[in-house]
Amino acid sequence: MPKIAVLTSGGDAPGMNAAIRAVVHQAAVHEARVVGIKHGFEGLLKREFVDMDLGSVDDIIQHGGTVLRSARSDRFRTAVGQEEAAANLKEAGIDGVIVIGGEGSYRGGAALTTKGIAVIGVPGTIDNDIPCTDYTIGFDTAVNTVVDAMNKIRDTATAHERAFVVEVMGRASGHIALMAGLAGGAESILIPEIPFDLDDVCRRLKWSAERGKVHSIILVAEGVASAYAIGEEMKKRTGFDTRVSVLGHLQRGGAPTAFDRILASRLAAQAVEVLLEGENQAAMCYRAGQVEAIPFSQVFATTKDIDRSLYDLAAVLAM
Ligand code: F6P
Repeated sequence: MPKIAVLTSGGDAPGMNAAIRAVVHQAAVHEARVVGIKHGFEGLLKREFVDMDLGSVDDIIQHGGTVLRSARSDRFRTAVGQEEAAANLKEAGIDGVIVIGGEGSYRGGAALTTKGIAVIGVPGTIDNDIPCTDYTIGFDTAVNTVVDAMNKIRDTATAHERAFVVEVMGRASGHIALMAGLAGGAESILIPEIPFDLDDVCRRLKWSAERGKVHSIILVAEGVASAYAIGEEMKKRTGFDTRVSVLGHLQRGGAPTAFDRILASRLAAQAVEVLLEGENQAAMCYRAGQVEAIPFSQVFATTKDIDRSLYDLAAVLAM
């Protein structure tokens, strides 16, 4: 009976539980045993192994977070740590590991493949910054969370006739800011991928106030600058009553959307197939509605670009 492991690593993302559930169910179909590794690569170093059966993934598809917990491991980043991790897997008789996480977790997984461990990566991060996949698990939920927050902020912004600078997550990428800005009607969207002129942002703010708009939301991706610094500067340049809201980790929690549950289920179920077919390293991707497996090297060789046309559309819609 083949024995496979599954772990979640890096920042948790809504839908990770749906992915774990799909791994266990698909493995059951193939009569493969599943070992859950708690606390990501850190738990792998500590041999935090738990046997998983269908019962262990009952009632989790609707929950954010990850039942396997997650962690960021400094020890696993070292060559010694990676040797130790591979040895722990071999000792436990594990044939391959499904790593659910972001690009950093993929790099950890790829390191394990050089030590003779089969690893399949499943893209799980709210940031949507993994190349070669249109969407990562958790991104859709995070965008909806930001839009919901923007709706609420807009109410108070209108009541007090204020401008709000709202900071969203995304690490070095602006995908969350762009999509939430489009859906939430942000007056300006500041993302690391596209240079901006703060004077221009201020001019637009004044112009929309002159035409009678009493509320504004400037959405800032965390990779651009601190929203506090931007808010302060805008206040100085426009004299507008400006407030700042940093949404922070609430973007990582909550029940996953149907889209994220289905995405996670499809990617993870296929990851099990790929692993049991004998593939020793691959990154699962979702492209144009299809699930595919590609080499890690292909993911590492490219970057995830912003769709410039969406950015331009957001500017039109913000007028
Ligand atoms: O990668 C997900 C993410 O939430 C990023 O958007 C953010 O920059 C980072 O993780 C925060 O990490 P931590 O929870 O370790 O502070």
